Amino acid sequence: MKAAEIRQSFLKFFESKGHAIVASSPVVPGDDPTLLFTNAGMNQFKDVFLGFDKRPYSRATTAQKCIRAGGKHNDLDNVGYTARHHTFFEMLGNFSFGDYFKHDAIQYAWELLTKVFKLPEDKLWVTVYAEDDEAFEIWNKTVGVPAERIVRIGDNKGARYASDNFWMMGDTGPCGPCTEIFYDHGPEIAGGPPGSPDEDGDRYIEIWNNVFMQFNRDEAGVMHKLPKPSVDTGMGLERIAAVLQHVHSNYEIDLFVNLLAAAKGAVDASGAGHCDAASPSLKVIADHIRACAFTVADGVIPGNAGRGYVLRRITRRAIRHGYKLGARTPFFHKLVAALVKEMGDAYPELRQNESRVTEVLKQEEERFFQTIANGMEILEAALATGAQVVDGETAFKLHDTYGFPLDLTADVCRERGVTVDEAGFNVAMNRQRELARAAGKFKMAAGLEYSGSATTFHGYDKLLHDTATVVAVYVDGVQAQSARAGDDAVIVLDHTPFYAESGGQVGDAGELRNASTRVEVDDTMKIQADVFGHHGRVVEGEVRVGDAFNARVDAERRARIMRNHSATHLMHKALREVLGGHVQQKGSLVTPERTRFDFAHTAPLTAEEIRRVEAIVNAEVLANEATDATVMALEDAQKTGAMMLFGEKYGERVRVLRIGSTQELCGGTHVQRTGDIGLFKIVAEGGVAAGIRRVEAVTGENALAYVQSLETTVSSVAGALKVTPADVPARLTQVQEQVRALEKEIAALKGKLASSQGDELLTRAVEVKGLKVLAATLEGADAKTLRETMDKLKDKLKSAAIVLAAVEGAKVQIAAGVTADSIAKVKAGELVNFVAQQVGGKGGGKPDMAMAGGTDASKLPQALASVQGWVAERL
Ligand code: ALA
Repeated sequence: MKAAEIRQSFLKFFESKGHAIVASSPVVPGDDPTLLFTNAGMNQFKDVFLGFDKRPYSRATTAQKCIRAGGKHNDLDNVGYTARHHTFFEMLGNFSFGDYFKHDAIQYAWELLTKVFKLPEDKLWVTVYAEDDEAFEIWNKTVGVPAERIVRIGDNKGARYASDNFWMMGDTGPCGPCTEIFYDHGPEIAGGPPGSPDEDGDRYIEIWNNVFMQFNRDEAGVMHKLPKPSVDTGMGLERIAAVLQHVHSNYEIDLFVNLLAAAKGAVDASGAGHCDAASPSLKVIADHIRACAFTVADGVIPGNAGRGYVLRRITRRAIRHGYKLGARTPFFHKLVAALVKEMGDAYPELRQNESRVTEVLKQEEERFFQTIANGMEILEAALATGAQVVDGETAFKLHDTYGFPLDLTADVCRERGVTVDEAGFNVAMNRQRELARAAGKFKMAAGLEYSGSATTFHGYDKLLHDTATVVAVYVDGVQAQSARAGDDAVIVLDHTPFYAESGGQVGDAGELRNASTRVEVDDTMKIQADVFGHHGRVVEGEVRVGDAFNARVDAERRARIMRNHSATHLMHKALREVLGGHVQQKGSLVTPERTRFDFAHTAPLTAEEIRRVEAIVNAEVLANEATDATVMALEDAQKTGAMMLFGEKYGERVRVLRIGSTQELCGGTHVQRTGDIGLFKIVAEGGVAAGIRRVEAVTGENALAYVQSLETTVSSVAGALKVTPADVPARLTQVQEQVRALEKEIAALKGKLASSQGDELLTRAVEVKGLKVLAATLEGADAKTLRETMDKLKDKLKSAAIVLAAVEGAKVQIAAGVTADSIAKVKAGELVNFVAQQVGGKGGGKPDMAMAGGTDASKLPQALASVQGWVAERL
């Protein structure tokens, strides 16, 4: 059975058992901050398991795109070197949301494996959680698996519930005991059954995990019972395909055979010639193209943090392996086409995004090849010193500053017979991590424990709520009964007009006040989806749970935020109009000061494009139409054609914003009429990552202030040039021409000055055993003058060794020259080095002419005086 057929027959089997076939969710989880990438089929159902979300079905089945290359489940370093680890893989799963439980789950799994896939029963082993007698009994009594092929596994990972047979999605979230099914590849392969000391061998391979979801684990590690026991299963498509295709490695299944061939072709064509088809590096590349292409297709761009960073790491790992095989030009992006051929039918998003994915990876690859070139230069310089060890600081600097990875440094060093101080590297790395950790703590305010009711938000139409009651107080991140004057606190209210940061719009600031107490709120952030934390400082009195407050948003600040937010919608549409429909929002930040908007587009915006975007937005502003927000069912919203953000997870009911001619789903706060925005002005444009541009714009008073400050600048320039602002450009051109003319004149004068000094210097040459020796300082000379003077002096002195130096501050430039008749005995390169060393420098060059620099001018007279003796020794 081909991989594609296995995928299909799995889904069909569970469909025949009453399961809804649900599409894979993106590899980027919609709005789950606990998760870097989708790492299991159950992710898209997390809230259903937790009882927060309902679906029209209680049984589902999926083939889910998964990535395990960061976070809790991370297989990156194993990839390429084992038979069955991948960064990207497909998980086939069936799910019960409070419907069937252990009995049916186990029996469905058995039926599919033995009846549909026709695996011999005696090749299958199972494990159960040690305490799960029920699962043991079902396997043994109902299914008939002999007790000696059922292994009980307890908490074998050092803590309560830390077990191979207790599955957790992450540090928090739904979890429960599981039963795993193993396939025995036969005695000719090394390895022991699960739970035995040799279990890590390749003989017994886990193919399917059935999790009995029963708990929700919170941040403190406490297990809360789920509303209804549920089932979550996961079978790696690549593993079951290997079993069914009678191969031992996932890389030998049909899908990978083709990708491996494509990888070899691309690497060979990029400089490798004929690389070894069996190299693990090709497996790494074939694996990584899947992770990278799907991640980009789902909206991630290589970057320096979070998902973008993981994507960058995987891409670079693939490129490094290609480099190791001999590739010297970009090859990796060329594999996208082969991947689309293999997987584009099952995952249409891949085909739809083929050219964009190729382009993004290509740009990243070009950059990295450049990085490799830059890093090699630095590494070569370090190696040129002849040291036998590359020190840890250098290796770390290469890694940290130049993105040149440690293993590449180690590879190059190995070839040269040099070692790398890895211990020193680790010291530098740990120091860096500590710094990062300290910086990260700051932002943890959102991780507060809360189990009360949700906050009711009134801030769309009110900025004051006069009967808000305190339901929770936190001081220093810990829940408290009260906060006193001077405390920095987070306060949760039952009702609030404060908007909590979300959708790119910053949180509100303002004030909570009653007769005795005043709190200055400087930010509002969500503790949970519907629970708003007011962050601020108690200025007077005391805040106790149960106290009532007037909650008042800073209206002026909010108005600025609303202007910027509404302008963002208009700008988004205008950018699509001017640049094209491919413009997709990739991130936004709306603050009182400005709006910052990131979007997919490959080229910088021209001044003309910026003008047009500004004109379109300002025309909408002048039309001064009323804006409108309507809450409706997601389906109805889709019918209106409102813009939806790719990869965003929307609830059942959504808010559709109409602003001017735009329609977007948005939960933010907005102006009442477009005219409220005032002047709209783009103030910055630049690139943030390959394929992503960033535009920043201002509105209202901020736009006025911006224009005024430009005016001030122009006026002061005009004043300094003594012309009117309109005449500045012409006057400036004139001034620049004058400067150029003066520069020329100065250069000519310097030359004259130096040559007149040169004539005077001739008289200072001393004859040593037939050779004229001259060592002198040349006032005000630059490198060029030094060289020219040197040539003249050589001509005139005929047979000479000369050192000329020029001083600027503490810095010294030195030139040494020896006439052709004497270079057999006296070498300019050595001479210049001899002098340079005495003034804190180094240098070298050809035997007749050499240059060097130094940093300690105070030693120069002495150094020049030593020249005569040095030359004499060599004659
Ligand atoms: N969620 C379970 C796993 O990933 C099935 O193994």
